[in-house]
Amino acid sequence: METWNPDGPDSKPPSPDGPGPGLWKPDGPDLVILGDNGAVLPDLPDATFRMIYLDPPFNTGKTQTRQSLKTARSESGRRIGFKGQSYETVKGIVTSYNDAFGDYWAFLEPRLEQAWRLLTADGTLYLHLDYRESHYAKVLLDHMFGRDCFLNEIIWAYDYGARSTRKWPTKHDTILVYVKNPKNYFFSDAEVEREPYMAPGLVTKEKAARGKLPTDVWWHTIVSPTGKEKTGYATQKPEAVVRRMVAASSQPGDWVLDFFAGSGTLGAVARQIGRRFVLVDSNAEAFAVMKRRLGRAIAGPRGESTSTVKFITVAGH
Ligand SMILES: C[S@@+](CC[C@H](N)C(=O)[O-])C[C@H]1O[C@@H](n2cnc3c(N)ncnc32)[C@H](O)[C@@H]1O
Repeated sequence: METWNPDGPDSKPPSPDGPGPGLWKPDGPDLVILGDNGAVLPDLPDATFRMIYLDPPFNTGKTQTRQSLKTARSESGRRIGFKGQSYETVKGIVTSYNDAFGDYWAFLEPRLEQAWRLLTADGTLYLHLDYRESHYAKVLLDHMFGRDCFLNEIIWAYDYGARSTRKWPTKHDTILVYVKNPKNYFFSDAEVEREPYMAPGLVTKEKAARGKLPTDVWWHTIVSPTGKEKTGYATQKPEAVVRRMVAASSQPGDWVLDFFAGSGTLGAVARQIGRRFVLVDSNAEAFAVMKRRLGRAIAGPRGESTSTVKFITVAGH
């Protein structure tokens, strides 16, 4: 099975609307960029980020996005997948089940290709989705990355808001985890915060005191409306949920990326545990929230003052 080749005809030239190459430097500051990620990403160099976390906006079915629909790949049919079906065939089947998802995928696909290009050879992508779209995305990502690159489906279960009495109340999100190379990817539980055993009486006292490593089902409340973590940004995700991903799939000093950054949760977490970050969002409100959240120096994991963050606005924003 062939996977997407960044050197192939799909590679994109830098966008004239982007911030320009040279934007990111290995020893430069952390970056927060206000701009459309479609224009910003081509200006970041290949294989830069060990971990990418993406929490794209929920598939509303409207959009904006048809313009980025690409047809070139259907001619080449380069990616052959399950039962010999080409990626284009599978994409056609999947997206025809749900027109709105077809639009959404046309928006997401070129950005996920960029994510693949930007991951280091041993890097990991976490794609945070709604239960209504995750199954479509999984089939397509299997083809895009390669089926053997699928590492986990994480269920983040929470408990808030109204409860339907006509069906099981839906209280979870799905996070699909894909690695670039299934034979050599970075994963370490050393820094992952442990959690209490469900039945601590069934394990030794020492084990109960230490807690257990999380499985692929994560119970965690949403950001508390009264907690100090709250930024006021509507779709903000809890730091503890994102911190697990960063802790397991990167090391101190590594660069991590979120190009649907919202309130900048990935950046907040990265600073806490000594990772470097690039955040991109096209919404001026998100940019303002990130300025407030990340604009002041804080103490890093070893008590040092963290590097300053550079805030960049791309032309047209
Ligand atoms: C679900 S929110 C992310 C929330 C984030 N994980 C947090 O914890 O705050 C999705 C974000 O994607 C941004 N977005 C949507 N389309 C974008 C685009 N083309 N380029 C950059 N950001 C975009 C939206 O402005 C929104 O802030």
